[in-house]
Amino acid sequence: MTAGKKPWGGRFQKPTAKNVEKFTASIHFDKRLYSYDIEGSIAHVTMLAGQGIITAKEAKEITAALKSILQDMEQGKIAFNPADEDIHMAIERQLISRIGESGGKLHTGRSRNDQVVLDVRLFLRREIDNVLAALQALQSQLVKLAKREITTIMPGYTHMQKAQPVLLSHYLLAFWEMFDRDAERMRDCRRRFNVLPLGAAALAGTSLPIDRSQTAKYLNFPQIGQNSMDTVADRDFVAEFIFASSLIMMHLSRFCEDLILWSSDEFGFAEISDAYTTGSSIMPQKKNPDVAELIRGKAARVYGDLFAILTLLKGLPMTYNRDLQEDKEPLFDAVDTVKACLEIFTEMIPQTKFNSGRMRLAAAGGFSAATDVAEYLVKKGLPFRNSHEIVGKIVAHCLKNNKSLDQLSTKDYQKFSPVFSDDIREEIKLEKVVNSRKHIGGTATSAVLKRISEIEKKLGRK
Ligand code: ARG
Repeated sequence: MTAGKKPWGGRFQKPTAKNVEKFTASIHFDKRLYSYDIEGSIAHVTMLAGQGIITAKEAKEITAALKSILQDMEQGKIAFNPADEDIHMAIERQLISRIGESGGKLHTGRSRNDQVVLDVRLFLRREIDNVLAALQALQSQLVKLAKREITTIMPGYTHMQKAQPVLLSHYLLAFWEMFDRDAERMRDCRRRFNVLPLGAAALAGTSLPIDRSQTAKYLNFPQIGQNSMDTVADRDFVAEFIFASSLIMMHLSRFCEDLILWSSDEFGFAEISDAYTTGSSIMPQKKNPDVAELIRGKAARVYGDLFAILTLLKGLPMTYNRDLQEDKEPLFDAVDTVKACLEIFTEMIPQTKFNSGRMRLAAAGGFSAATDVAEYLVKKGLPFRNSHEIVGKIVAHCLKNNKSLDQLSTKDYQKFSPVFSDDIREEIKLEKVVNSRKHIGGTATSAVLKRISEIEKKLGRK
């Protein structure tokens, strides 16, 4: 290849316009795939030699040169330039400049169309493992916190109105469950795309006697793409990954939203550590929950990435189109954002102080035991609808007389139903209200402790 000439330049008379080179280049972002590109190429030449398509000597020479290119790239010794177009061509140019003509044999029976999806799959396989490790780290922090806060009672909300008291541990483990589904989605996504694309070539396969099962073995793919057209056209896995990431971001964002509210003077439920908050340049008293706010904000970025990939794919004719080069920036952005947010949130959450006194006080207010009064009547034989009506009247009476449920005497209760007896006073105590919900999935201390031990057993087995 002469300098400045493209590997695909045979049929061209004029050089590419400079601004077209710049416009079409992806090297400035796909260079981060270099190690995967080289890994794939080494597997490919090994297979080519095994099949007698190139000689063992050629394969050895190419492999050695690829390894030295890898080393140089790792040490930042190679300057990329837009004339290289993308990482695949940059590496091929390096190879040919190092070993001459025989370097040109690497691309036998392969196209950049199958090569690029190979690189992205190898990249994403590694990154999903990183995301899974980050999720697991967060989940184990949540379990630790749930154990630490096992006696803290907080108000549970629906419609942002005080509803029923719950354990803070129960709240924390609600997020454990969400992140567990997220991990499952990531594992599922990984399993589905863990399929070898090489061999699809441009779109129709190759007439050369390749052995795809060998390549799959070298690269540790349990499956081989079964349709060469699908293989080069498919980016489902990119969309799936970004969707799964969007849900992680949504969960983090909801968690952050609560922490932000709870850090306000109005709530006073939580205090995020100084290390994860920032001050105001004008108001000296301020301590702002910027990390939590930014995580909430970054959820929007990842949703943007999701819409970019979905929109990119919807109108594409079969099979590969250059539009698909636009898949990588949203993918990289989603990977980087979700990892950064998981990591910083996992550091921030165990250093957050929860104000159990404020939470308890809030939990006791707002007639949060009203349902328990109604269920008390149910236990005494009344139909739920009637008891609901009775308790509604009791609440109205309290509101009118500025009283709470525990300020009413047994006699007061009996004015609304003769079924009430002294035990109603015990029934509405916060601990009783919480601990009576002891079925699977309930907020009782016994149920939460049981879930914690199940989770710990599950973790031990993983
Ligand atoms: N840089 C391209 C991409 O990211 C690689 C494949 C290009 N293939 C082609 N025939 N132009 O999609």
